[in-house]
Amino acid sequence: MAGTHYKKNLIIFLITTALVALLLWLVYSFEPSLRAYFVDGVRDPQMHDAAGASYDNVFKITKIVLWMFLFIIVIRALNALIFGFGFRLRKGYEAPNLVRNTFSIIAYIIIFAVLFKRFYPATDLGAVLATSTIFGVIIGLALQDTLGNLFAGISLQADKPFLVGDVIVVGQFSGVVESITWRGIKIRTFQNHIVLISNSSAGKESIEVCPRDNLNARLVFFNTLYTDSPAKTIHIVREAVREADNVSPKIRPIVRIRNLGDSGVDYEVKYWLDDYAKYNDTDALVRQRIWYAFRRAGINFAFPTRTLQIERKVRGDAMRADGSEFIDRLNAVDIFAPLSAEETARLAKNSVRRVFAPGETVIRAGDEGSSMFVVHEGKVKVQINDNGKPRTVTVLNEGDFFGEMALFTGEPRTANIVAAEETEVLEIGFQAMKHLFDTNPDLVEALSHTIAERRAELKAKSEDSAPAEIESAGVLAAVKRFFGIS
Ligand code: CMP
Repeated sequence: MAGTHYKKNLIIFLITTALVALLLWLVYSFEPSLRAYFVDGVRDPQMHDAAGASYDNVFKITKIVLWMFLFIIVIRALNALIFGFGFRLRKGYEAPNLVRNTFSIIAYIIIFAVLFKRFYPATDLGAVLATSTIFGVIIGLALQDTLGNLFAGISLQADKPFLVGDVIVVGQFSGVVESITWRGIKIRTFQNHIVLISNSSAGKESIEVCPRDNLNARLVFFNTLYTDSPAKTIHIVREAVREADNVSPKIRPIVRIRNLGDSGVDYEVKYWLDDYAKYNDTDALVRQRIWYAFRRAGINFAFPTRTLQIERKVRGDAMRADGSEFIDRLNAVDIFAPLSAEETARLAKNSVRRVFAPGETVIRAGDEGSSMFVVHEGKVKVQINDNGKPRTVTVLNEGDFFGEMALFTGEPRTANIVAAEETEVLEIGFQAMKHLFDTNPDLVEALSHTIAERRAELKAKSEDSAPAEIESAGVLAAVKRFFGIS
């Protein structure tokens, strides 16, 4: 393709050069005979001089035009050779049009000045141009826009705020830059249209540039019902978007809540693109991935609807359930093993489900506590304060319990409990436990043992000393005293 293009241009170049050279040769060879015919034939000396002068001028101007023509052809060829072919060889791309045009214009002016001097040595071209106000006004008016574009183009080239291949947004247009010439910028829009923006108007607008070699980001918006968990939504969307084509693996997408909207929770996902020019396709793919991920995870988009709650039993926070779904969970907690089925069912009924976001504090050290908790789903960290910084002593998983120390001894909470991920816990109050204590001495003993063990571990960890002694008997006595058990 490029080869035939060069070949065609070369043939045109050779033919036009030959033609112009031929014309020049004709002019030079026939000049004396024409002069003899037109000028020397005139008898009247005055007429003879006048005819000589105009004859001279006609020939000089014809020669200047023809020479100029020849040089224009040569300069164009040189231009193609240096800035097209040469640049491609050395740098791998052709020089920008603005550079090529500036080179040509300067060369034309120089050649014209030299030719003019050669044929009219007595006339000062500079003075003619400088003193000719009319010439200046004409040039100024005629070239007002062109010169404006040229200078704006020169400053664009000098600043290089964007390059061919970058995506830019100028006014209402956005697209990929195809060329930057001395007249304007050509962009290809995402509808595959060409838009030409003159340099001078681009110079007046603010231009948003998304460079090709930069990791540009996009935002895509979506929403969910209020009943869908944010932590789960964020995790699922992040993973789904990450794997989409053209989403850069270099930066993990960010998913966050933008607003608690009228019909649901509004989110945005921010992701970075390998090729920004394809952002329309990638946005669409990201939305598609979110839809499928929601389908799999049972998360729902929020329609702009009014939600009419006619359900009696609503899933949610701080809500007393009939508890049947918690029975299995409580049965799996070792300290509740001695309880009868009836007692476990009652305990489940008296438990309250609470949900915590990742990083939320469930229990704060030093607070008073009148309930204990069982981890139903998720995990929590037990943290103590180490010189102002939280230090994790241990992590409690599903089926583990916490908060028993303050509940059964009446002392302040001994540690912070923080949700390590989205976590659901079952909260059991003082009354529900007290009731069990009367009939289950084994339970009191098992609990006292755990408390003593944990106390010893806390002591050892907080003082960085050897494991402290597990003092179960003392704890048991204290618990019994606290609950008024003999
Ligand atoms: P409480 O003191 O009421 O509140 C903080 C809770 O952290 C505490 O009850 C225990 O349930 C729990 N806890 C404290 N130390 C440990 C430990 N070493 N291992 C497990 N859990 C602990």
